Formats: sequence, structure tokens, C-alpha cells
Amino acid sequence: MVYLNGEFLAKNQASISVMDRGFLFGDGVYEVIPVYKGSIFRLQEHLQRLQNSLDAIGIKNPHTNQQWQDIFSQLLTHDLAPNQSLYLQITRGADTQRKHSFESLTATVFVELNPLTPKSKHELNQGFSAITQADFRWQRCDIKATSLLANIMYSQQAKQNQVEEVILHRDQSITEGATSNVFIVKNNTLFTHPTGPNILSGITRDLVLESAIACQLPIQETAPTLDELLSADEVWISSSTREVMPITQVDSQPINQGKIGTHWSNVYDYYQSLKNA
Ligand code: PDD
Repeated sequence: MVYLNGEFLAKNQASISVMDRGFLFGDGVYEVIPVYKGSIFRLQEHLQRLQNSLDAIGIKNPHTNQQWQDIFSQLLTHDLAPNQSLYLQITRGADTQRKHSFESLTATVFVELNPLTPKSKHELNQGFSAITQADFRWQRCDIKATSLLANIMYSQQAKQNQVEEVILHRDQSITEGATSNVFIVKNNTLFTHPTGPNILSGITRDLVLESAIACQLPIQETAPTLDELLSADEVWISSSTREVMPITQVDSQPINQGKIGTHWSNVYDYYQSLKNA
């Protein structure tokens, strides 16, 4: 069951116009929201970021927060899997002719549920690998836009290299991952790129910072350099679907001799307690 423009339909019954600007241009925004034991995690924060993305590209929010919540609740009554992720996408809608500039159109709204299977601590304790690449994306990475060509290219590279993530750097500063935010621990301080146009302001990023503070780990929103990444005591990535994951190898070099860090373990446990709160 999916939601499309006011209707709840079987996925194979849902279709949109070939003139939809989402299809023609990737002219739209999206959100991915985790649902744990049927309860939507940090819904208000996701809806606020959705509003920010819509405002940035000049699409009127088609629904109030209450309407969004009603759509999500209806979908969730059809699917009782314990952990899921809500995918919602709004495109500018369909015009009669393809042109870059736009008129006022009726937005296309699509929502679906996907299975969510966060890794257990036991699985995470193995550690994960990443590679680094120059960040050639545009400078509005704060908009959660459906046009994700650069992120797709990086993610495919991660797959081909059999690593968990591609970590991006701009002018030697670590921005974020292809689909995650990036943190390092150095000398018992947690560093991550500040929010702004060069990164997506992750909802999980905020929760990781909140968890670090609760675990008495000082935080500094300063981008680590590439050298600092490679010589870090710990490297983590975060996202709504992956939570907070330890990276123990970057560009084939072990981080902290390939060992999982204690700060990650503490922050991971605190993050789990927020989910269950
Ligand atoms: N992506 N940075 C980028 C480029 C991302 O694509 C994501 C998440 C994040 C983390 O944001 P959050 O913590 O709010 O999930 C950071 C989602 C999961 C996706 O595209 O599927």
C-alpha cells in the first residue's frame, strides 16, 4: 500500500504523468523517517526539515503537519512490521510542456513504507570500511532534494569497492558521506562539519550530538580535515536508516588499529535509549 495524491493504492497501481517535473528534472524534495515499534521517530524534526527544503525551492507544503501525520498513520495501519522507514516525496507537479522554469502547479505527493532493519550492536562491533572522494556536489546540500545524481555515483562507487560509505571532502575538509553525516573523535572530543549549505543537516546528526553531550563527550562543530580523519581515534557515520555506525578502515588504512572505540559504544547505547524512550 502506498499513498499517492490523496489515494491509498497498491504499489503497482500507483502511477504519475510523464510530464511530472520529478521525472523530468528531479524537481522535488523528500524525507526518510524511521518508525520504531509503530512509533514515528522525531516526526516534528523531519517535518520541519521538509518545510525548509520546500521553502528553499519554492513549493508550497501541500499538507499541514496533522494531515501528514494522518497519512502516515493510515499507511502504518496496513503494515504492522515492527521497524520501518517512511519515504515521502513531493515534486513540483506536472506541466504541459518541458521547460526549466516553472508555473504554479499541483504538487505530486508520494509516501511509502520500507522495511527497516538496523544492525545489532553485535554486527556493528565488526566495524565498517569507507573510502574518501572529493565532494563535487553543488552548494545547496542542505536541501533534501530528490535530484541525487552525485550521491548515486558515490554510492555506486561504495558498492563497487565493497565499502559501507564514501566520505566526501571539499578543500581538504570532511563534509559528509554520500548518504550520511560523518564524525571523528580525536583526543576525547567529537568533531563534525557545522550545518550550512555544504551538508544535509541530519536529524540523526543532532541526536548523535545530543547523545555525545549526555555521555560527557565534548562536541565541536568544526569540519575535520582529511588528515585528521585518517589519524582519528574513531570515525562514525550517521543516518536515519543506519543510526550511528563505526568506521574502522578508511582508504584501506585502519582507524585506531581497526578497533571499535569506547565513545562510539557509549553514544550508540544512549541513542538506543532515545529510540526506546
Ligand atoms: N539520507 N547526508 C546525506 C547526504 C544523506 O543522504 C543523509 C540521509 C544524511 C543523514 O540524514 P538523517 O540523519 O536525517 O537521515 C546526511 C537518507 C537516509 C536517504 O537518502 O535515504
